[in-house]
Amino acid sequence: MKILLATRNRHKTREFADLLGPQFQVTDLSNEHDLPEIAETGSTFEENAAIKALAVSRVRPKELVIADDSGLEVDALGGAPGICSARFAGDRATDRDNVEKLFRELEKLHRPRRSARFRCVIVIAHNGKILKAVSGESRGLIADSPRGENGFGYDPAFVAAGFTETFAELPAEVKNRISHRARALEKLREFLGG
Ligand code: IMP
Repeated sequence: MKILLATRNRHKTREFADLLGPQFQVTDLSNEHDLPEIAETGSTFEENAAIKALAVSRVRPKELVIADDSGLEVDALGGAPGICSARFAGDRATDRDNVEKLFRELEKLHRPRRSARFRCVIVIAHNGKILKAVSGESRGLIADSPRGENGFGYDPAFVAAGFTETFAELPAEVKNRISHRARALEKLREFLGG
């Protein structure tokens, strides 16, 4: 089965390909230069995932399109960076910029609570219509300092419940068993018949 992922984030594409397995042929928007930029104007993960899935499905109506909107919610920061996770430190922020800003914001607080969660909403669309929306989360803590080289985004900052390593210190197979994306995709798998 062919899946078009509504993302240019190659790390996400890698995780989806690993999670879905070899019976799915996953492509993304990296080589789709004629598609307009999609403005993520929603105020929730759900809205933004739907905006991305529908925008791509309208121009590629024959394809099965999947969009993921995801991010990190830190309780001591009132749920930030949340839907602003990708651009927490600014529009052109790198993953490292965002992680550094996260630790700077926590350092401003007196003994902040370190509880946090990754959330992921996945929307699947076909022919300009939403077929299904699912969500998943992974709860844990923000580490004392960033650790690890694997993964992407805030992985060096996040320690999942029951673990001592950050997501960036875990092998991909382990992160892919417990991540917010894995949990959302598990719910979608039945729908896809995989
Ligand atoms: P989106 O592409 O608008 O959904 O933004 C997602 C952002 O959330 C990414 O750029 C990362 O900063 C963060 N994020 C989402 N999922 C993960 C993950 O699995 N690990 C680390 N960071 C993530």
